[in-house]
Amino acid sequence: MSVNIIHQYAETGDETLLVPILKSQWSEDAIHEQLLSIGLPNSKALRPFFKAENGDPLLIYTDKGRRILLLTLPEPLRFGSCLKTFKLLSNKRRTFFNAPVTLDFRLFPEEQIEMLSDAAVNGLLLGSYEIGKYKQDNGRGEHPLSLGSAQISLLVPESRVDVAREGARIGEATAHTQLSIIDLVNAPSNKKTPQVLVDWAVDSARFFGYQATIFDRDQIEEMGMHALLGVNRGSEHPARFILLEYRSEQAPADQLIALVGKGVTFDTGGLSIKPSTNMYYMKSDMGGAAAVFGTIELAARLQLPVHLVGAVPVTDNSVDARAIKPSDVLDSFSGKTIEVIDTDAEGRLILADALAYVTHHYKPRHLVDLATLTGSAVRTFGYHCAAMMSNDDELADHLYRAGQDTGERVWRLPLWEEYGEEMSSEVADVRNLSIKPMAGAITAGKFLEHFTNEHPHWVHLDIAGVAFGDSGLSRDKSATGYGPRLLTTWMRSRNQNL
Ligand code: BES
Ligand code: ZN
Ligand code: ZN
Repeated sequence: MSVNIIHQYAETGDETLLVPILKSQWSEDAIHEQLLSIGLPNSKALRPFFKAENGDPLLIYTDKGRRILLLTLPEPLRFGSCLKTFKLLSNKRRTFFNAPVTLDFRLFPEEQIEMLSDAAVNGLLLGSYEIGKYKQDNGRGEHPLSLGSAQISLLVPESRVDVAREGARIGEATAHTQLSIIDLVNAPSNKKTPQVLVDWAVDSARFFGYQATIFDRDQIEEMGMHALLGVNRGSEHPARFILLEYRSEQAPADQLIALVGKGVTFDTGGLSIKPSTNMYYMKSDMGGAAAVFGTIELAARLQLPVHLVGAVPVTDNSVDARAIKPSDVLDSFSGKTIEVIDTDAEGRLILADALAYVTHHYKPRHLVDLATLTGSAVRTFGYHCAAMMSNDDELADHLYRAGQDTGERVWRLPLWEEYGEEMSSEVADVRNLSIKPMAGAITAGKFLEHFTNEHPHWVHLDIAGVAFGDSGLSRDKSATGYGPRLLTTWMRSRNQNL
């Protein structure tokens, strides 16, 4: 798909003019003057036919046979909700995009143009996602916007051409990275061994110019990552530890951000086996890894002036005679011993080693981990936000704001000391399951805290409900691409020059 930015409409006769408007504008007479100027002869007569509900498109053929598509954007106008509107339009109404489409943004205030261009390009591309990857024939061919020949034009005031171009560039780069990690999270477990994640990271690093260092099973053992090895014991596939680094020459000194992601390629629960009904969703248990991969790839694509390190432990959690058993005590990279009460609380085990590793080897200014960690986060927040835990109010506040802007929302839970008492073990330094069956997302956060080397600017995002769920791209639950947009927006907000 190619995107052009234009400031004059040159009608070719073959294109669709897509006109986003606000519901509140529709009742105002002024808007009809403007619609008249773009070729809708009597738009007031359309009022009874256009409910102007959010995202509800109205296609009109004018007397000259031109197609004009009115699309209501949600109010108040924000990136996240605009993105969703464009994504759903593109996904549900793909035939609209068989011909070139010109988006007319001239009805919007100039300061909104960059945001709208970004949201439109990002959303339209995301909506082209094809869930039926393994179908012999999906019955409808490729989405028109995934073809190289597809054309989108953004029509903006002349003074806004540059910002629209910048918005479109960010939207396009973000969408391509998101589509790539969505594919990875949706991949079934038999096509997603730890080595497949390694291959993804190595290919991306080579292509976009950052570093990927891979540790194999023996090296993981040498390093003393026994918690990761414990989870890996029941698997036929050896664990991997993936270390990524992107460093821009323009990155300010002492502002390293360390990102840690849970990479469980399938979570059966291990011997504490999960019920079978929804177990198939557990192919998505590497959503944290995907978020870290995507954030680093996107920062490299956009050449953001930042310094990032990503640490991703990868294994599946399977059942086997060799698998760890409840009551086992594991060593870990940090030196702390862990009593395994439940083998299904495996994410925190592998994260313990990765968190301890990055805080031992680097001096990050910020430490961020992302993990599909607990069912408790899903029961608390549904699919609407990630559960955030942090010991740094300012960091939590910045992420909250990035979440509100992008639609990849986060909501904070406390890390009060009392919750930590539930994780104390009588036989080892810490146990991996709370004594009481309550506050599961928080007690998981308290467990991780033991392995952060008391890092003062740490944030844990439990993305169990948002990484895989209500994506709008399929009937069943599927990957959303959560993470890269949120985190790169946060990075930009820290440094106004980005
Ligand atoms: N991968 C799961 C968490 C999860 C649940 C992610 C639902 C997405 C949707 C995690 O490893 C797990 O099994 N957590 C257990 C922890 C429990 C044993 C303490 C859970 O939340 O039930
Ligand atoms: Zn589990
Ligand atoms: Zn898990």
